[in-house]
Amino acid sequence: MPRHTFILNGEPVTAEVEDDVRLLWVLRDVLGVTGPKYGCGVGVCRACTSHINGRAFNPCAVPVKDIAATDEITTVEGLPATVGRELHPMQEAWLDLDVAQCGYCQPGQIMTAVAKVREAREAGREIGDADLDEIRNICRCGTYHRIREAIRAGASRW
Ligand code: FES
Ligand code: FES
Repeated sequence: MPRHTFILNGEPVTAEVEDDVRLLWVLRDVLGVTGPKYGCGVGVCRACTSHINGRAFNPCAVPVKDIAATDEITTVEGLPATVGRELHPMQEAWLDLDVAQCGYCQPGQIMTAVAKVREAREAGREIGDADLDEIRNICRCGTYHRIREAIRAGASRW
């Protein structure tokens, strides 16, 4: 069985799985990291959104063979450590605004939100309506209004 090594939430990890297994299943079933959720498996719903080298991506759509040993994968479990706190400011805003309903989509929503704020800042601005309009994460509970408020609140604290 091929061995695949990469950095997961700041630590090197190795998984023995076939090359074509999607990273989402390696994270959830082999490594026991269940923050990234399974919704569609084809890169559409964004429930599995995590970060690769600081950028949002969907591990359900990436075979584990495409992940390099130096790639840094961050899931919602590792998000607070990226700012050296117990909770990331985006997570605090989520709690303060009571965003989640069933909660299933919310780890992906938070990871998308953090990546979007970073992208806007790299472009030299704060996140605005146009950025929020680009977010495609599906929430079957329809919490979109609170998500938008929380992203603005989270960005203002960090
Ligand atoms: S499960 Fe990954 S995008 Fe839907
Ligand atoms: S909170 Fe239920 S799917 Fe989004």
